[in-house]
Amino acid sequence: MPEIKKVGVLGCGLMGSGIAQTAATAGFTTVARDVGAPLLEKGRGGILKSLGRLVEKGKLEASARDAASGRLSFTTDLDALRDCDIIIEAVTEDLELKNRLWKELDQLCPGQTIFASNTSSLTIAAMAAATSRPDRFVGLHFFNPVPLMPLVEVVRTVTTSQETFDQAYAFARDLGKEPVTATDSPGFIVNLLLVPYLLDAARALEHGVATTVDLDRAMQLGCGHPMGPLTLLDYIGLDTVVRISEIMFDAYREPRYAAPPLLQRMVVAGFHGRKNGKGFYDYSVDPAVPSDLALGTSVKSER
Ligand code: 3HC
Repeated sequence: MPEIKKVGVLGCGLMGSGIAQTAATAGFTTVARDVGAPLLEKGRGGILKSLGRLVEKGKLEASARDAASGRLSFTTDLDALRDCDIIIEAVTEDLELKNRLWKELDQLCPGQTIFASNTSSLTIAAMAAATSRPDRFVGLHFFNPVPLMPLVEVVRTVTTSQETFDQAYAFARDLGKEPVTATDSPGFIVNLLLVPYLLDAARALEHGVATTVDLDRAMQLGCGHPMGPLTLLDYIGLDTVVRISEIMFDAYREPRYAAPPLLQRMVVAGFHGRKNGKGFYDYSVDPAVPSDLALGTSVKSER
C-alpha cells in the first residue's frame, strides 16, 4: 500500500480548516485550497487561534504548534494538490460543485491518489461515479470542532476497494482520531440520529414547549450533553443544518428530516448561528443572550 505523506484539503471553511490543522498537527505535509485569498486568510487565522488555544491550555507544545504551522500551506491553485496522496474535500454541500472539482482533480492526480469527501449527507457513490477512480473514493466525515472531536466516520461505498478503505481507516487513526465504519447512506451514523433531534428541538421551541435556555439546559443537565440542541444548532450553523436536512429529506422522504418553518425563516432572515453572530442566541453580547424576542418564539425567556 502506498504511504500517505501529503494531504490536500479542499475548502478552508470551518471543517476544512479544522481538517487541515489536524493533519498538519499529526505530522502530514498539508496543503489547504480555497477559491479566494480572503477565505484562505480566514481559515489560516482560525487555525492559528485554535493552535494557540491548545498551547495555552497545555494540550500542545509550542514547538509542536510551530512544526504544524510549518507543515501547512495555503493556495488558491488546484494544481498545487496534484502530488497529494489523499485529498479531503470539505466544500459546500453542493453535488455539482463537488463533482466539478473532483473531475478536475481526476485529471491532475495520479491514479493512486485517494479521494475522500467530508460530505455530511450527500452520497459518496454520486461523487465516486464522476471520476475514473471509483475504487479510490471514500467518505471521511469529521465533526466540529475538528481538532477536538475524536470521531471520524469512514464511509465505504459500493465501489470503494478494500485497500482504499483500509488505507483511509488507518489514516484516520494516524490523524489521532477514532474511526468507525459507516455505509454510504445519507447522514451515515451520526447525522442520521442527530439531525432529527436538532430539528425536533427547533420544533419544540416553535411550538412553545419551553424557552431557548430551558430547552438547552434540559438536555445538558438531564442527558449530560456538552451543549444543548439550540446552542449546537448555532454552533454547526443553521444554514448548514437546513441544507443537510433538505438533502436527507430528499433521500428518505420522512417528515423527521424536514426543517421546521422557524428554522427555514431564520436562515432566510440571515440567522446563521455563531459564525455570523445571530441564531437562537445573539452573540453580539458576551455572554450570548437568547433571541426569543427577535424570533417571536412564544414562551417568555428567562435567564
Ligand atoms: N480549537 C482548540 N481548542 C478549542 C476549540 C478549538 N476550535 N474549541 C474549544 N476549545 C477548547 C477550549 O479552549 C477549552 O479548553 P479547556 O477545557 O482546556 O479549558 C475546551 O476546548 C472547552 O471549550 P469551552 O470551555 O469553550 O466550551 P465547552 O466546554 O462547551 O467545549 C466543545 C466545547 C468541545 C465544542 C463542547 O461543547 C462539545 O463537545 N460540544 C458538542 C460539539 C458537537 O456535538 N459536535 C458535533 C457537531 S455535528 C457535526 O459536526 C457533523 C456535521 O456534519 C454537521
